[in-house]
Amino acid sequence: MPKDHQTIAPHGGTLINRVLEGKERHEALERAATLPRMSLSNVAISDLEMIAVGAFSPLTGFMGQEDYRRVVQEMRLRNGLPWAIPVTLPASQEDAASLREGQDVALYEPSGHLLGILHLAEIYPYDKQTEAQHVYRTTDEAHPGVARLYAQGDLLLAGDIELLNRPSQIAFPAYRYDPADTRRIFAERGWRRVVGFQTRNPIHRAHEYLQKVALEMADGLLLHPLIGETKAGDIPAEVRMRSYERIIADYYPADRVLLAVFPAAMRYAGPREAIFHAIARKNYGCTHFIVGRDHAGVGNYYGSYDAQLIFDEFAPEELGITPLFFENAFYCRRCGGMVTAKTCPHDKSFHVSLSGTQVRAMLERGELPPEEFTRPEVAEVLLESARVARQEGGK
Ligand code: ADX
Repeated sequence: MPKDHQTIAPHGGTLINRVLEGKERHEALERAATLPRMSLSNVAISDLEMIAVGAFSPLTGFMGQEDYRRVVQEMRLRNGLPWAIPVTLPASQEDAASLREGQDVALYEPSGHLLGILHLAEIYPYDKQTEAQHVYRTTDEAHPGVARLYAQGDLLLAGDIELLNRPSQIAFPAYRYDPADTRRIFAERGWRRVVGFQTRNPIHRAHEYLQKVALEMADGLLLHPLIGETKAGDIPAEVRMRSYERIIADYYPADRVLLAVFPAAMRYAGPREAIFHAIARKNYGCTHFIVGRDHAGVGNYYGSYDAQLIFDEFAPEELGITPLFFENAFYCRRCGGMVTAKTCPHDKSFHVSLSGTQVRAMLERGELPPEEFTRPEVAEVLLESARVARQEGGK
C-alpha cells in the first residue's frame, strides 16, 4: 500500500475536519440548545457540510471580509492561496439584526434539524454587482448563479463552523464518501494518479470518451457527479446517478473506478467554477481533473474553452492538481468512433452532434436518442424519467 506522502496534499496542506464527535459533540449539542438560531438555505447546508468534511480545505468556516474581497477580485485567499468562488453565509438585515459579532449561532435546517455551530466573527456588507461581474463575468439576472446571488441576503456572516449532525436528507448514502474516505480508498487500491470527473448530467458517449482517455494515463477514475442544488430545468441528480448505475458494471473496470457523489451546489460560474471544482477534487485526493467544453457553463455566458484558459492564470504548483483539457467530443461515422476536431479529418456530415435541447425534444416525443450519442441503457433511463415527468406534469 502506498505511503501517505504518495497521495496528493490537500489544498493548503491540511485536510480540514470540523465534524465533531463523541464528548465534544455531546457538549456542543447541549450548548447549541441555548444559542440564537439561524435557518440555512439548501446551498448553505451543503456548503456547511463541504467545509466540515474538508472538501473545501483550507476553509474552516464561511469567509470573512478579507478573504471574500480577495477571492472576488483576485481569485486568492488573503494568504495568497488560489480560491475562485466565495463561500459565504448570507443573511437578511432582519436576521442579522439579532446577532452580534463574537457570538455563537446554532445552524438549523428549515425543518428544525440541528446541523452545527457558527462562531460568528464578522457581519459585513458586500456588493452583489461586483461579485456577479467578477465571479460570473456578467451582471445579468437571467444567469442562474447571478439570480441566486441577487435573491440572497444583503449581509454576510463569517466565522469558523462545527458540524454536529449531517443534513437530514442524505441522498445516495451508498455513494457518500468524504475526502478522508476517498483518500483512504485510493491508497488501499494503490492508485497514485487519480483523475476526477465533475458532472451535472447523465452520462453520454462524450463523457465516457473523456473519462476513458484520461483513465488510460491514470491508475484510477473518480466519477463524481454533483448532487447539490442545481437550477430548474437541469436533469435531477437521481436520473444522473441512475444513468451511471445502469452502465458502470457493464462498461467500466470495477477495480479502476469509484462512483461517489459530490454534495456541493452548482454555481454555473463556468471558468471560476472549474478552478473551484479542481481544488475540491484535489481535496478528495485526485491528482488530475477533467475540464472539457464549457465546463460548469450555462447559456452563452462563457466561451467554450474559457474554463480551460483560466488555468493559465495560476502557476501549476499553486493548484497542485493537473487539469486535463478536452475539446468538444462527438461521434464520427467515418472514423467509426468518438473524436474531436483534433483527431478527426472528416466534415460535419459524418458527425453525430446533438444539443441538450434536441435530446430533450426527442425524449419528449418518446424517441430514444441515437446510440452514437448515448448508450441505449442510459437512453432508456432518460426516456423513463421523461415519461414520469410528463405524467406528473399532466396531473
Ligand atoms: S458541468 O456543468 O458539470 O461541467 P457536464 O456534466 O455537462 O457539465 O460536463 C461534465 C464535464 O464534461 C465538463 O468538464 C464538461 O466540460 C465536459 N463535457 C461535456 N460534454 C462534452 C463534450 N461533448 N465534449 C467535451 N467535453 C464535454
